[in-house]
Amino acid sequence: MALAENLTKLILLILPAMIANGTPVVARKIYGSGTPIDFGKNWLDGRPLFGPGKTWEGLLSGVITGTMFGIIEGFVFEDFRFYVYGAFLSSIGALIGDIIGSFLKRRLGIKRGEPAPILDQLDFYIGAISLLYIGGYELSLAAVLVFAPIILFLHVTTNWIAHQLKLKEVPH
Ligand code: CTP
Ligand code: MG
Repeated sequence: MALAENLTKLILLILPAMIANGTPVVARKIYGSGTPIDFGKNWLDGRPLFGPGKTWEGLLSGVITGTMFGIIEGFVFEDFRFYVYGAFLSSIGALIGDIIGSFLKRRLGIKRGEPAPILDQLDFYIGAISLLYIGGYELSLAAVLVFAPIILFLHVTTNWIAHQLKLKEVPH
């Protein structure tokens, strides 16, 4: 399959992850500070397991919006099984990747909301790709690598916009 075709397939499967990852930033205007996934628990090092920036409400709202986008894709491309299941895996993978990102940040002593360049931008992408792969979706490595810097750029710009719109206190 040509790279262009592989990239198109990847983008369609990753768009739900991008939506899922961005949803909590907007949805928290409704749910407020939410219920932390770690319930405020600390790790062995005495630092938060994930920190208060990762909530059940964010996880749920992200998976719902991401999967809903997959339903639209299913309608448009007339393949529900591929797009809805793909969007579900992609969304849940994105949010798990983001939670793992926070786990790593806390272990490195980086506080909630403080920047961790590359990790902050790519954790959700790596999570989404991993879950899609586990779920049996064949993705081209070349397409995954080509799209990574684009994800990085889009994440930086959308977060900057969210900061300008006062949706985020910090621009990352
Ligand atoms: N958010 C949430 N639940 C999630 C993911 C995100 O409620 N599962 C919300 C939180 O309000 C969070 C905001 O979205 O503060 C922005 O997400 P992110 O930048 O990933 O979190 P940070 O606050 O920067 O925390 P961390 O340093 O742990 O990444
Ligand atoms: Mg952040």
